Amino acid sequence: MSKWKNTTHEFGLIAKLLHWVMGLTIISMLAFGFIMTSMPPGPVKWNFYYMIHKSVGVTLLVLLFVRLVWRWINPTPMLTVTGFMALIARFSVFVLYGAMFTMTLSGFIMSEAGNYPITFFNLFTIPVIMPLDSDISSMAARVHSYAAFATIGIVCVHILAALFHHFILKDSVLTRMWVRKKRFG
Ligand code: HEM
Repeated sequence: MSKWKNTTHEFGLIAKLLHWVMGLTIISMLAFGFIMTSMPPGPVKWNFYYMIHKSVGVTLLVLLFVRLVWRWINPTPMLTVTGFMALIARFSVFVLYGAMFTMTLSGFIMSEAGNYPITFFNLFTIPVIMPLDSDISSMAARVHSYAAFATIGIVCVHILAALFHHFILKDSVLTRMWVRKKRFG
């Protein structure tokens, strides 16, 4: 069981899987989102590309809750930095979760308040639980669009920070999310 769970020194398999699967999916969703909105209108755009984007987005929203619960019931590996750097590290985790919630919830609210059905991978339709409100829907669409640009910046800073830890500070921040290490350092 121990390899699945986090320790105070490194992330377990579940946290690593959630990190890489969600990270790569979010990067793909950013590109996919911009490509699909610039496509010419038509049934392929709405019934295929939008359907895929919304289905993957809802899956990410569910995984986000799973990830938060898993984080809550597991120890978090110790920070490798102290003082001001530790403050930045904690703040960046908060910003990353904030970006993930903003993107998934704004997308969900845009569809729900606009009463646009979310057909989950064409398997079933997620019931519309919000009353039709085009103001809320278009506000959520604006948030979704601006937050997408902010998320691109946040993801770039996150990747640069990981590389800074690995190549400049030479600590275990990147490797403990990547391969299984025997010693902490
Ligand atoms: C982390 C998750 C998500 C990411 C990274 C993402 C990314 C994007 C991006 C980059 C765009 C293009 C924005 C623009 O052109 O201004 C977009 C559009 C869109 N997204 Fe998402 N999205 C996510 C989740 C969701 C979810 C959960 C839903 C709905 C269930 C959703 C529904 C939509 C819709 C309907 C559009 C088109 C808006 C329009 O036509 O103006 N997205 N998304």
